[in-house]
Amino acid sequence: FSLEKGSVNAKSPSNIALIKYWGKKKNQIPTNSSISYTLTNSYTETELKFSPKTSEEFDVEVYLEGELKESFTPKIITFFERITAYIPFLKHYKFEVHTHNSFPHSSGIASSASGMSAMALCLVQIENILGANLTEDELLQKASFLARLGSGSACRSVYKGLVEWGENNFIEGSSDLYGTKFPDNEIHEVFKTFHDTILLIHEGQKSVSSTVGHNLMNGHPYAEQRFIEANDNLKTLIPILKNGDVKAFGELVEHEALTLHAMMMMSNPAFILMKPNTVAALEKLWEFRRETGKQLYFTLDAGANVHLLYPAIDAEAIEVFIENELKKFCQNGNYIEDKVTF
Ligand code: PMV
Repeated sequence: FSLEKGSVNAKSPSNIALIKYWGKKKNQIPTNSSISYTLTNSYTETELKFSPKTSEEFDVEVYLEGELKESFTPKIITFFERITAYIPFLKHYKFEVHTHNSFPHSSGIASSASGMSAMALCLVQIENILGANLTEDELLQKASFLARLGSGSACRSVYKGLVEWGENNFIEGSSDLYGTKFPDNEIHEVFKTFHDTILLIHEGQKSVSSTVGHNLMNGHPYAEQRFIEANDNLKTLIPILKNGDVKAFGELVEHEALTLHAMMMMSNPAFILMKPNTVAALEKLWEFRRETGKQLYFTLDAGANVHLLYPAIDAEAIEVFIENELKKFCQNGNYIEDKVTF
C-alpha cells in the first residue's frame, strides 16, 4: 500500500427487523433469514482516521461524541481480528474512530447495527484509497459482509429500503454472508411511507445482551421449529409486500416480535426483556386498533422499547394517540419519531 495517512467518513442508519434474526452459527452465520426496514433519523456518523505504523499489534482508539472510550477498544479489536483476513491493511495502520449517534446514548436503541455498518463503510473506502478499485456495488457488498462480522444485523444497515439477510431458495441473490436489498419495485407504495415511532420504555443497558440471547438458541427446545417458521414467515411476507395488505403485514410482524420474546422466556436460563410498560403500551395499542380501525402495529427488538409501525395515511390520528395515550409509558416521556428510508 501507499503508506499515507488520511481520513474517511460514513453515515449509516439503524434498522428494525420485521422478520427477526435470532440464533447464529459459527462466523456470524444466521440460523434463519431475516428482513428489516432501514430507518432515517436514528443513525451513526463515523470518521475513521488512519496513519501508518510499524508495530505488529492492532492499534485503535475510539472516541464517542468526542470522548475517548477505552471500554470500546476490545470490541473493535475483536472485530479487527475477525476481518483481518479480508482487510489486509489493518495491521499497517493506527486508527482513530470518531463516532457520534443521532439518538441518545442510553436510549436502549442498539447502536451496534448503525455503528458497525458505518465502520465497515469507512474501511471499504480506505481499501479503495489504497487501490482496491471496488465498484459502488462491490463496495457496498463488501461493507455489508464486514458489518456482519461486527454485528449480524448490521449487514442490513448498509442499504436503504427493505433489506434481507440469510440464504434461502425464494429470494434471488440471498446470502448468509451479506445483506441483499429487496427490490423497491416489488414493494407496494404504502410500505414505502411507513413511520416507525420508537417508544423509549426503558433507557439504559439491557439485562441480557443479544450475543448471549443468540447463544441460548443452541439447544433451545423450540429452536428448530422457530428457524423453520421464520423462513416461512419471510416467504409469506413477500406477496404481502407486493399487494399492499397492511393488515396481513401488521399481524405477521407482531407475531414475529412476540415470538422473539417468547423464545427468550423459554430459554434456559429464561430471561425477559419487556418491562411492565412495554406490555401496557401493547395493550393500549390493540385497544386503539379495535376501536378506531387505524392501521397501527408494533414490533419489538431485543429490548423493552416498542417500535410503532404505521403508514403515512394514518399518521395524523396515530400521532395524536401516541402523544395522549402512549407517551406516558415512556421513560421521561421520551420517544423518537423515525421513518423508513427508500
Ligand atoms: O445483530 P445482533 O447480534 O445485535 O442481533 C439482533 C437481533 C434482533 O435485533 C433481535 C433481530 C434482528 O434481526 O435485528
